[in-house]
Amino acid sequence: MIKFNKPTITQLEEKYIVDALHNSILSGDGKYTNRVYQQFQERFGIKNMLLTTSGTTALEMASILADLQDGDEVIAPSFTFSSTINAFLLRGAKAVFCDIREDTFNIDENKIEDLITDKTKAIYVVHYAGIPCEMDKIIEIANKYNLFIIEDAAQAVGSTYKGKVAGTMTEFGCYSFHETKNYAMGEGGAIIVNEEKYMERAEIIREKGTNRRNVLRGLVDKYTWHDIGSSFLPSDLLAALLSAQMDRYDEIMEKRMLVWNTYYEGLQDLEKNKKLRLPIIPEGIQHNAHMFNILLPTAEIRDDLIKKLKEKDIVAYICYVPLHSSPYGLKLGYKPEDCPITEDIAARLLRLPLYADMTKEDATYVVKAIEGVL
Ligand SMILES: Cc1ncc(COP(=O)(O)O)c(C=O)c1O
Repeated sequence: MIKFNKPTITQLEEKYIVDALHNSILSGDGKYTNRVYQQFQERFGIKNMLLTTSGTTALEMASILADLQDGDEVIAPSFTFSSTINAFLLRGAKAVFCDIREDTFNIDENKIEDLITDKTKAIYVVHYAGIPCEMDKIIEIANKYNLFIIEDAAQAVGSTYKGKVAGTMTEFGCYSFHETKNYAMGEGGAIIVNEEKYMERAEIIREKGTNRRNVLRGLVDKYTWHDIGSSFLPSDLLAALLSAQMDRYDEIMEKRMLVWNTYYEGLQDLEKNKKLRLPIIPEGIQHNAHMFNILLPTAEIRDDLIKKLKEKDIVAYICYVPLHSSPYGLKLGYKPEDCPITEDIAARLLRLPLYADMTKEDATYVVKAIEGVL
């Protein structure tokens, strides 16, 4: 059976978790949380990072920090996870859905400007499948209209755009370390605060609106209520798990790349014969082998392929059901025709199994199975 996803766990993860149990602050911001910050600083030059309880809550923190409010409009793709949009709906802001590009399935930077009104306050971009969006153009638009950009880099830890690390190119970047992501802590995430001026407030919001972090730093002897906030701080036990994964960063990336490249090379002939389309990685982008998607000619062929792969014990899934045409999207008044490219791609896209401990032989088995069906 080829599972869809499986976390990669070794004795190192076990060792760090047991150590955290005995030698750290279980409630969070202990030695492993700080170790994770150091690892991200050393590897990516990230200075202001705060671990959160999920990618979802990192996005929620970003919405609070951008001061999104009732009546504000936020431009975002519909081809994303519900968390991207819920993050600002929870603040009372409204989603203005922007269609995606046919090549990368990322927000179409050329369609953003037409959606801007005097209520627009922010753009949420999603680096889908670990392939960063066309950030130069998006940043240019945001600067012109004075808008926040929040990078939903949940899937893009380790990806780069023109040498810049995903999650570090705008005011706020949000990572996910959910068990399905490249580097996992079970449930968890992080907000990257790229402008120093927001960091103090970010620390307070993450700690239920209090300055508890300053007690841990020894700066004050008791903490007090300063702002709104919530319980966004993960246990140090989970940070220990992530810290071990970050020690294994190169190994995990290499293993995932091997599977990704095996798919990419193995499926070339099917692409030449127009049976499917392989991922398109624009120039200047380094992806992180988070996902491998194939685009089939029709929804019927995609659905039939899922069924037949299942018969061969291979689990492959559809990607997203577009949010604008999901039950809640329709309830809010959006219509399927609002984002026609999103609708079309979502119906034809298929996500293949990909995890670090999958072997080249497993990936070849999947390739052969797809060849057999198509
Ligand atoms: C694009 C995107 N945004 C946000 C999230 C939410 O992250 P988490 O599951 O860590 O809350 C995910 C995770 O699945 C995601 O893929």
